[in-house]
Amino acid sequence: MKQPNSIARHQGKLGILLPGLGAVATTFIAGCLLVRKGLAKPIGSLTQMGTIRLGKRTDNRVPLIKDFVDLAPLGDLVFGGWDIFPENAYETALQAEVLERRHLDPIADELRRIVPMKGAFFPEYVKRLHGTHVKQATNKAALVEELRQDIRTFLKENDCNRAVAVWCGSTEIYQAASEVHETIQAFEKGLLESHPNISPSQLYAWACVLEGIPYANGAPNLSVDFPAIQELAKKRGVPLAGKDFKTGQTLMKTILAPGLKARLLGLHGWFSTNILGNRDGEVLDDPDNFKTKEVSKLGVLETILAPKTNPDLYGDLYHKVRIEYYPPRGDAKEGWDNLDIFGWLGYPMQIKVDFLCRDSILAAPIVLDLALFLDLAKRAGFSGIQEWLSFYFKSPMTAPQLYPEHDLFIQSMKLKNTLRWMMGEDLITHLGHEYYD
Ligand SMILES: NC(=O)c1ccc[n+]([C@@H]2O[C@H](COP(=O)([O-])OP(=O)(O)OC[C@H]3O[C@@H](n4cnc5c(N)ncnc54)[C@H](O)[C@@H]3O)[C@@H](O)[C@H]2O)c1
Repeated sequence: MKQPNSIARHQGKLGILLPGLGAVATTFIAGCLLVRKGLAKPIGSLTQMGTIRLGKRTDNRVPLIKDFVDLAPLGDLVFGGWDIFPENAYETALQAEVLERRHLDPIADELRRIVPMKGAFFPEYVKRLHGTHVKQATNKAALVEELRQDIRTFLKENDCNRAVAVWCGSTEIYQAASEVHETIQAFEKGLLESHPNISPSQLYAWACVLEGIPYANGAPNLSVDFPAIQELAKKRGVPLAGKDFKTGQTLMKTILAPGLKARLLGLHGWFSTNILGNRDGEVLDDPDNFKTKEVSKLGVLETILAPKTNPDLYGDLYHKVRIEYYPPRGDAKEGWDNLDIFGWLGYPMQIKVDFLCRDSILAAPIVLDLALFLDLAKRAGFSGIQEWLSFYFKSPMTAPQLYPEHDLFIQSMKLKNTLRWMMGEDLITHLGHEYYD
């Protein structure tokens, strides 16, 4: 990443395009509208409430991040998106049962006006859903063209001079990158031939990059995690980020594991299970879709604990993750973790975590931060994978040959140091004044 000479100032309206207008997307939109009206606070959002220390500790310079870097204000955001069901954002938010009527009623009219555009969908990628609001086209290339036209129409109709996209659609079946994903030419050919390995989320991502729109992937789908789209994004100067929002259980894991490792406490086993009953849970009830999530959730401990360099502590760690679809819970997921740890002389101990979380409440501020930071990244001239946004993902994308950084505290330091570097401030290394001043 090259340090920007100058960052273009934000001006005019910023479109926020969301493929997948479900529980997360509507909770995010509703939250922004409520905050805009002064009816709620954007808890959990670094761009809205976070601060950043600048200079030495004695300098007492700790501005809000939004006063330090030039982010689009909430008042400038315009929301839109696609779904394979036709309900507007108000109807979907009611069905999702994440937010209460006291929060939905004051913004009901604005939510009703957000009607999804028809989705690009192939049922083999999400077998549990039977979409009724879907595009029909001769091939996958034609679908990309339709999505591009949707984007242009949205920008024009809403008087936006730029946009960002955050995938909030369902988790697709597990897929590894294949030949069709290798180069731009191979992918373009694959689009024309409707290659079966090209998934719906890849069509949205391709359309966005062609339109110069930064794209973040909130699901563990391959979407933007393949060489052809990364090459295209570099060529077109488009930032990408992904994948899979780091919320509930994995958030806890990446808070706890670095602490255990820092104190050299060993781990024999980490068993994680979840019950959830929303549409996401229903989709993940299919083993092929669960596999995508499982791979995303399992990678975390390996890189934080580095068993190869710490074989006595983590060499025989047994890590298992389950997700159970249990409709009575709706969006109010419960995540249980059992950690079998050991200490001095190998004596065993246990830690139990029971996190009664609300999935979409944890995900909504991530959508906002990603949208605003990606817009900033684009105005700063960054392109390709934005590793400094790893903070927000379960399975952060990296440049080829690099391993992802999962430790939440290192991720947070990297994000804030990137902001300091962008603005020409000294990086903070946490060296004491005896060495540093
Ligand atoms: N909530 C969290 O904490 C969290 C954390 C990490 C990842 N995620 C991921 O975020 C995504 C959204 O979660 P959610 O709880 O809002 O799920 P949801 O099921 O409520 O919403 C997903 C929406 O995407 C739509 N959709 C599916 N395929 C589509 C396509 N091809 N085009 C357009 N729309 C499509 C569905 O109809 C649905 O309305 C899921 O993939 C989930 O795994 C959520």
